[in-house]
Amino acid sequence: MDGMNIKNCRYIRLDTIRDGNDGVLSIANGNQNIPFDIKRVYYIYDVKHGESIRGKHAHKALHQVLFCIRGSVEIVLDDGEKRQTVMLDKPDLGLYMLPGLWHDMRKFIEGTVLLVFSSDYYEESDYIRDYSDFLKHVLKDKKNDPVQ
Ligand code: TYD
Repeated sequence: MDGMNIKNCRYIRLDTIRDGNDGVLSIANGNQNIPFDIKRVYYIYDVKHGESIRGKHAHKALHQVLFCIRGSVEIVLDDGEKRQTVMLDKPDLGLYMLPGLWHDMRKFIEGTVLLVFSSDYYEESDYIRDYSDFLKHVLKDKKNDPVQ
């Protein structure tokens, strides 16, 4: 697990219970190891190997945790100042993405399943889908933050 140098995201490692040779059980609890009330769960699969790039947006208020429960995928993260690529390929390793984080998902290998826990229902007005709007948004937040 590489270090994370980007604002508004971090890894979450789930507790797991290994049952001898009978497999592993990973546990996600809302408001505990998932740091919000889980209102929505969705999953992405059947992505064409290699070519597809998903995401390409940020959220204004939504919190999400991504788990690659099968296969592997690269996530490119951008907080408006720095960019970092992380690989998700372990079912118990989540990527917690807070609001104000531009991201895309790419290099899905065949059979990959990406499971997402969300803090709220789908709301298109919560999306920032234009990168220059995203940069304006993070700059505005920075100006409003008295610590900066
Ligand atoms: P989007 O979040 O842009 O997908 P990704 O980030 O994986 O590329 O959503 C793709 C489309 O699906 C978009 O038209 C919105 C729709 N959608 C819903 O209707 N409900 C949902 O819960 C989600 C996640 C997406």
